[in-house]
Amino acid sequence: MRDALAESDLLVDELVAADVLVIGTPLYNFGMPAALKAWIDQVVRLGRTVGLDESNPTDPYVPLLADRPRHAVILTARGGIGFGPGEAMAHMNHLEPNLVTALGFIGITCIHQIAVEGQEIGGELLTASVVRAQREVDALVTELQAALAAASPTRRALPPGSPTASCPSSAIPKRAAYTSSTDRQDDWWIRMRDVVEAFDMGRAVR
Ligand SMILES: Cc1cc2nc3c(=O)[nH]c(=O)nc-3n(C[C@H](O)[C@H](O)[C@H](O)COP(=O)(O)O)c2cc1C
Repeated sequence: MRDALAESDLLVDELVAADVLVIGTPLYNFGMPAALKAWIDQVVRLGRTVGLDESNPTDPYVPLLADRPRHAVILTARGGIGFGPGEAMAHMNHLEPNLVTALGFIGITCIHQIAVEGQEIGGELLTASVVRAQREVDALVTELQAALAAASPTRRALPPGSPTASCPSSAIPKRAAYTSSTDRQDDWWIRMRDVVEAFDMGRAVR
């Protein structure tokens, strides 16, 4: 049993230590790729990232990573267009909503989302989407770096009993974990790594 849980333990340890999680993923068949789902299933762990409050049988789950603010940056690539929030195809996009729900379930609630669309359409549409996403990445890096600069040298733990972590501007991104559901190393994904590299302490990059 211990052997079976070893990989999960490693992934959970990495997540517990991280202040920023960066997920780079394509949209596959309206949801997440199997490899990313496998990662989710390894880190949503009873007793490690989710507690059980037996005095509350109708809603017993307690998010254990809500002890302090943690940021998640979700960077997605889509072949089609219109899958963003409020857009025509949004109801068919089960990728980011699934990730937001699963991460929130374990207590990661400071979530930033940036997408590139139109990879299968190409041309000017794709170029414009990449340029816009890169601008958003730059702005996000600046925002998170400012939060880092403003942060005190010690992590701010929330008082015991706090239901969820808030996302104050003074949230302290010091360590980053990175997970990518594909091995692609093209410009887009390398660019995405800038977000991780903005926080160069003790990160784990796979
Ligand atoms: C198996 C598969 C399923 C896909 N499903 C979708 C989809 O549902 N919606 C969409 O907009 N793009 C879809 N795409 C396109 C990808 O999201 C897009 O090409 C992305 O850039 C692929 O990233 P990758 O090359 O890192 O895998 C799919 C691609 C593949 C290979």
